Amino acid sequence: MKYIIFNWKSYLNLSETLKLTKLVNKLPNSNKFKFIYSPNGLFTSLIKSHFPKSNVATQNIDIFGVGANTGSIDISLLKDLKIKFSLLGHSEVRSNFLESDKLVGTKLKQCMDHQITPIVCIGETLSIYKSKKTKSFLNKQISTIFSNKNNYQEVILAYEPIWSIGTGLTPQMSEIDEICSYLTKILKKYSFKKINILYGGSVNLDNIKEILNLPSVDGVLVGSASTKSSFINFFK
Ligand code: PGA
Repeated sequence: MKYIIFNWKSYLNLSETLKLTKLVNKLPNSNKFKFIYSPNGLFTSLIKSHFPKSNVATQNIDIFGVGANTGSIDISLLKDLKIKFSLLGHSEVRSNFLESDKLVGTKLKQCMDHQITPIVCIGETLSIYKSKKTKSFLNKQISTIFSNKNNYQEVILAYEPIWSIGTGLTPQMSEIDEICSYLTKILKKYSFKKINILYGGSVNLDNIKEILNLPSVDGVLVGSASTKSSFINFFK
């Protein structure tokens, strides 16, 4: 079974979001794919109440807790809505809201405490990729985010090279496979109930089959291509 995660970011208005949501909810239930989708935060609760059985993910959560925290999305509110997934540490959140690996680690712990399955995003910049330091960079990200003092429940990790997001560029297939198996290897020192490694960054109709065929890749996280009905219908 491969995870297919649609990240609609802030691309879609309400009617476009509802249209795509209907398409996703019509996809056949099979043991080949598990679909999760992440609408803009403003629409999440509405979508979840219209489609209670669907696997909706929030695009982020905050760590401040219940109380006087204007503008915050507390993780306990996800539970109220029966939302079971959240993206964490997406590169756009990291750059727009100055989120660090340490903060991603704190959010990860909160997800575990509240039975939310996190989709943790990591990835290197173009200059790190060019200087062939990807593995050591990812190793550092992992060791800052994860702790071997914790017993993790289900975690989804998305390898998303920053230079690949929204650019139409991707690493070579062999590089994606190598990095995802490297991540599987270094994550062995932590305790998980279940861990899956996904690839994200310029996944589209032209490359998805090849990426999903890579042995070390458990699925994909898709941004802009996933806002097109033709992409959703690919899975029909
Ligand atoms: P992209 O985005 O598919 O548009 O490159 C992926 C992501 O940001 O998760």
